[in-house]
Amino acid sequence: MCGIVGYIGTKREAFPILVKGLQRLEYRGYDSAGVALVNGNHELSVYKAKGKVADLEAFCADKDITGSVGIAHTRWATHGEPSSLNAHPHYSQSKNLAIIHNGIIENYAEIKKKLMNHGVKFLSDTDTEVLVQLIEYIQSKKNLDLLTAVQVALHQVIGAYAIALLDKRHPDTVIAARKQSPLVVGIGDGEFFLGSDASPIIEYTDKVVYLEDGNIAVMKLGEDLKVVSLQNEKLLPEIKTVDIDLGQIEKGGYPHFMLKEIFEQPECLKNCMRGRINVEHDSVKLSALIDYRSWLINAKRIIIVACGTSWHAGLIGKQMIETFCRIPVDVEYASEFRYRNPVVGKDDVVIAISQSGETADTLAAVELAKEKGAFIYGICNAIGSSIPRATNTGTYIHVGPEIGVASTKAFTGQVTVLTMFALTLAEAKGTLRHNEYTRIVKELVEIPEKIKEVLKTNEQVADLARTFTYAHNFLYLGRGFSYPVALEGALKLKEISYIHAEGYPAAEMKHGPIALIDSDMPVVVIATHNAMYEKVRSNIQEIKARQGRVIALVSKGDTTVSKIADAVIELPDTLECLEPLVATVPLQLLAYHIAVCKGKDVDQPRNLAKSVTVE
Ligand code: AGP
Ligand code: GLU
Repeated sequence: MCGIVGYIGTKREAFPILVKGLQRLEYRGYDSAGVALVNGNHELSVYKAKGKVADLEAFCADKDITGSVGIAHTRWATHGEPSSLNAHPHYSQSKNLAIIHNGIIENYAEIKKKLMNHGVKFLSDTDTEVLVQLIEYIQSKKNLDLLTAVQVALHQVIGAYAIALLDKRHPDTVIAARKQSPLVVGIGDGEFFLGSDASPIIEYTDKVVYLEDGNIAVMKLGEDLKVVSLQNEKLLPEIKTVDIDLGQIEKGGYPHFMLKEIFEQPECLKNCMRGRINVEHDSVKLSALIDYRSWLINAKRIIIVACGTSWHAGLIGKQMIETFCRIPVDVEYASEFRYRNPVVGKDDVVIAISQSGETADTLAAVELAKEKGAFIYGICNAIGSSIPRATNTGTYIHVGPEIGVASTKAFTGQVTVLTMFALTLAEAKGTLRHNEYTRIVKELVEIPEKIKEVLKTNEQVADLARTFTYAHNFLYLGRGFSYPVALEGALKLKEISYIHAEGYPAAEMKHGPIALIDSDMPVVVIATHNAMYEKVRSNIQEIKARQGRVIALVSKGDTTVSKIADAVIELPDTLECLEPLVATVPLQLLAYHIAVCKGKDVDQPRNLAKSVTVE
């Protein structure tokens, strides 16, 4: 993972730009942070600290941080414990070079051994240091300029990387390269910016170049951006205009990004549907799907690949596509799919779902499915990220940048897009009765208002959280469309409050988890008025018979479950297939408030990172 920032100019001080950029990228990792600055006197200084960007800032308070050229990094450790020694940037042995890196150098041990045999001394346990030492070794041994040495070194490296390098002998140049880890160059007036995504850049320029795999960017003062391949072919960088409003990536008065993002959901879903649903005609069109109509109509099977929360959205998508379009759908963890030689071919459509568009496993699953001839459809949030660029076509969820590590608005955005996807495809295939189709479209349009209603339960949920903070285990139960909601509720709780939680199909409880139930065990049950209501009600009775404590999500006006549950949260009525969009919201709030009560770091939970760009 890791966040990368760079600045090279003459008019501004680099340090404040780098630190602000790191703060925006902290969602990518926060084990340690560091900065390297180079000045016209050929002095290269590296400062690094264990912990968050704020710790780096404190560490640098009495240091000389002047200079207009620098690179900076916030780390999510893969090789070597989180410590200031393993923090990036890493110097080369002579201290002429400094590198920052996002990714994994898989053959680092082999290269390290060879370099050590040649007398190179290492200071850290990271794979990254191996790369900078290799570059220096090649540079000095063959007397090469830095760009050529980088090209030669990268040919020897197996793995994934986004790197940026400074050379104190050439303080007017920053070199960056990428393979399977994202990197964006911002082009200003006589200055360049670098970021793992555009968020550190947009304050200064809206002109960006998304580097492609195998690209090396040379940012030199007084010259235009130069992009070359590993083989040194000159490439023409495509300059794009980014359209991200700064307000979108700031907290806007909320104590945490997660809470802000939960509350943004009504607006986000409206943005997600805008231009895609025609309210006058109760119709929905996803242009990407229409453009590739024949591929999708003729799909014999759809395979959804994703990880984490996006995988949960996929489970809801499966039920929707199978119900509306009568196409069989498999939902696969991308990390499993990519390594088991799956049976995939040209009659299959693979849907890759990813908020960040950078998840390494999902990207690899896409590449594999592509090789096998499948048609690839992406459902992503981060515009211009790697997955959308690797797919045949797709739909952005348009919910704006999601910063909180726990995914919230992206989930409801993904489910909304999957609903529109299933409806558009069902209409094209003629598998859904027209009145049913219009009923769902009409109801989908109402969802943002219904979520607003659910958000009014915030205070009630906060009270509930205070009551249940004591628990060490939680069970979440749901059936049908609510089963993935139970999984998602459990994931939210465990990732930010560190309470063990499991999601289960309600009826499966009796095949095992029921053994866990006692008077200490809170069980969250989604028990709305739908086809499974009576069955779920019986499950609740079974829990109560074993003294379990039930928090039930019920339909407004429910009088039956309300009598037996310890606490209820009422949800507005909607169609069963759209219930996940409203039922997930109180579970997001519950996880949020429990984590706050326990004093946990909601936006940056321990050991996690927002975008998992390593395997
Ligand atoms: C969600 O709360 C998690 N942090 C995580 O499971 C996430 O959904 C997963 O890593 C997939 O990320 P992506 O959607 O960016 O691919
Ligand atoms: N492998 C590098 C390290 O452990 C970078 C980690 C990453 O990008 O997640 O320092």
